[in-house]
Amino acid sequence: MHRLCDSASLPEGTSRGFTLGTVLLFAVRRHRQVHVYLNRCPHQQVALEWEPDAFLDDSGSLIRCARHGALFLIESGECVAGPCSGESLQSVPCEERDGAVWVTLDIRRDS
Ligand code: FES
Repeated sequence: MHRLCDSASLPEGTSRGFTLGTVLLFAVRRHRQVHVYLNRCPHQQVALEWEPDAFLDDSGSLIRCARHGALFLIESGECVAGPCSGESLQSVPCEERDGAVWVTLDIRRDS
């Protein structure tokens, strides 16, 4: 497992981008639960954020790709609007313990 960040550095309703090795990923906390995905839009395989750590739409209830505005459910990564509707972000297994967020990621395979 890889330590992603302190739990306290990902407050409720926020998102943050990370790089582990050469792998881009991001985390969102909603309803106290942390969700982690690869930072790669299924539409054109590019990073989603429009500025650093900005992965959410204006309502804070959906993940939004800056490129063409695709919207994704925070809980599942499913695209519910936009050019890749029906596809999904790739989820990264994560857990919180000892005051930190940890992810399971094979960096060599995903690099
Ligand atoms: S690259 Fe994400 S919506 Fe087109």
